Amino acid sequence: MIASPTVPLARGVAIPQLGFGLYKVPPEDAERLAGDALAAGYRSLDTAAMYGNEAGVGRAVRRAMSHARAGRLERGELFVTTKIWNTDQGYDAALRAFDCSQAELGLDVVDLCLIHWPCPRRDLYVDTYRALVRLREDGRVRAVGVSNFQPAHLRRLVDAVGEVPAVNQIELHPWLQQHELRALHRELGIATEAWSPLARGHILEDPVLREIAAAHGVSVAQTTIRWHLQEGTIVIPKASSPQRIRENADVFGFALTDEEMARIAALDRGFRSGSHPDDVN
Ligand SMILES: NC(=O)c1ccc[n+]([C@@H]2O[C@H](COP(=O)([O-])OP(=O)(O)OC[C@H]3O[C@@H](n4cnc5c(N)ncnc54)[C@H](OP(=O)(O)O)[C@@H]3O)[C@@H](O)[C@H]2O)c1
Repeated sequence: MIASPTVPLARGVAIPQLGFGLYKVPPEDAERLAGDALAAGYRSLDTAAMYGNEAGVGRAVRRAMSHARAGRLERGELFVTTKIWNTDQGYDAALRAFDCSQAELGLDVVDLCLIHWPCPRRDLYVDTYRALVRLREDGRVRAVGVSNFQPAHLRRLVDAVGEVPAVNQIELHPWLQQHELRALHRELGIATEAWSPLARGHILEDPVLREIAAAHGVSVAQTTIRWHLQEGTIVIPKASSPQRIRENADVFGFALTDEEMARIAALDRGFRSGSHPDDVN
């Protein structure tokens, strides 16, 4: 894999544009798959307290840093994201939850910590965000962001705390292109990160994507990841085999044409592979 470009976040932090997602990776497989991803050239790992696999992710990171052979990685080359779960929202609860995440990860500093869902009916995301700012001020996280925030949640948060979250991680793929949210991200200066960038596999049979993939001699997964990269999105595909993990990282040797990008733009159909943020509390 050619090294992924990075996307600048606030305060001099930069996140690799291509990372590896670990949702639904069982805890007993997390160290191996995160290690496979690091070996394949990924430098960013996306986990969450809710995934139950932070400990394995942390072991893979520490192993990559302590590897005696050539190729040992420095901590500064690696980027680890975790998230505060819904039931841990609120100032004190979020601080306690982060203590647990940090202990599970076994890392002195977490690169990015997100509020997993806004949970508007709980109405605690402003206090939760303030806890994450405190963690950043204490040097325990480098960047603070949100996930699944809708425009109204972002506007209220920015009004209340007087700063803009570094990242909003949202469901985003060719069948759900999120134009309104992405326009607001551009206006406010929030980096867009795509979760379920392959729509959990649903888009892999799309005939237009298949045609474009065939024209480049690559897979639909690679075509879709390439689309994300050319859109400027941070993208974190998950896969369960070393072959797929490598395949998904092999996306820097071809480029989609403007016409192909336009054909993919026309595939938007409001399809969600996961929950709508308004339905999660
Ligand atoms: N913030 C949030 O609320 C939120 C929600 C969901 C996800 N996420 C994050 O986003 C990451 C990615 O999303 P996701 O895991 O839901 O879905 P995804 O990355 O869109 O798709 C993963 C699915 O695609 C398959 N796949 C991957 N590469 C493939 C390839 N080259 N060929 C064929 N099939 C392939 C995988 O199969 P195998 O696993 O069998 O290889 C898996 O079933 C998560 O892991 C997580 O880190 C965040």
